[in-house]
Amino acid sequence: MAVLITGGAGYIGSHMALALRDAGEKAVVLDDLSTGHREAVPEGVPLVVGDVGDEALVLRTIAAHQIDAVAHFAARIVVPESVRDPLGTYAANTGKTRLLLGALVAAKVKRFIFSSTAAVYGLEPPTPTPETATPDPGSPYGSSKLMSEWILRDVGAAHGLNFVVLRYFNVAGADPQLRSGQRSAAASNLITVAARAALGMNDGLSIFGTDLPTPDGTGVRDYIHVSDLAQAHVAALEHLRRGGASMTLNCGYGWGYSVREVIDSVRRVSGRDFPVREAPRRPGDPFISIADARRIRAALGWRPSHEQLDQIVGDALRWEAFCWGARRPGQRTRRAG
Ligand code: UD1
Repeated sequence: MAVLITGGAGYIGSHMALALRDAGEKAVVLDDLSTGHREAVPEGVPLVVGDVGDEALVLRTIAAHQIDAVAHFAARIVVPESVRDPLGTYAANTGKTRLLLGALVAAKVKRFIFSSTAAVYGLEPPTPTPETATPDPGSPYGSSKLMSEWILRDVGAAHGLNFVVLRYFNVAGADPQLRSGQRSAAASNLITVAARAALGMNDGLSIFGTDLPTPDGTGVRDYIHVSDLAQAHVAALEHLRRGGASMTLNCGYGWGYSVREVIDSVRRVSGRDFPVREAPRRPGDPFISIADARRIRAALGWRPSHEQLDQIVGDALRWEAFCWGARRPGQRTRRAG
């Protein structure tokens, strides 16, 4: 038995590969390396380079490695890009999830873990947001994931495929042992940009909106450590292996921090100051995004262990310093990955 990790050369998928290897599970990564990095795949985990929508390749991989479960991370994740190119986003996310599910049905694989997102809830959900909130995506990215959830629900019912949908809130940090982390030079998420600012790798950061209806006027997010998120996937796998029912679960901690609080944390933990500019709101940004995180604890017994903001920020800072050294993200060297 082995787990197929699509997108396992990416940021979150590579942490899943580490978590499975640490748990003594066999894993195989399928990644087209369009945004993933070969170096991110842990040693001892086979990498198949190719497309999740390539049915013949998926069927060959399932047979060769005795795959009994699939964790599907491969996707386009940048929200503004999805607004510029909705057709590309739907093809990459919804279309390829449908093709992948077709291959799994043909191969009689019965367990599936799907990377979904808090973006399915849209711009003004109740907060904290329970899984029962009516989805109302504010971007093609969120819609592409919600449509995939619906396809999965229907395929699961028709073909006896059990699944866990995990709706991620804001994923951040890096493996505490620095075996993986954010490798994208273009990463635009707040904690990465702020960590790079503290390390002098960029020219500082802009706060997108300071007049929001939040306690300090800046956006509030539920930041979850990437290693805790990977553990949630391992718990979901165990649930499915026990014959557990299909379910949809938020992945967050149930509390949030503002942009200013994140900046304070990065300054505190790094001991460095950096330029911060005030900029207009980013269109399509929810003001507050916080998970109602009770269901995953009750259903899977998941217990996070890295939930302090300073710890998330500290791991991000250590990873950035380790990964990039004296270089700026994007400059090439042999270690660039
Ligand atoms: C993130 C994910 C998205 C996911 C969503 C789930 C990324 C790039 N996006 O979006 O895929 O669906 O969480 O909730 O990881 N901010 C600044 N300055 C910056 C960057 C961000 O002020 O330079 C602010 C944003 O306006 C927002 C907060 O920081 O209030 C977090 O932004 P970001 O890290 O980009 O994540 P989301 O937009 O929430």
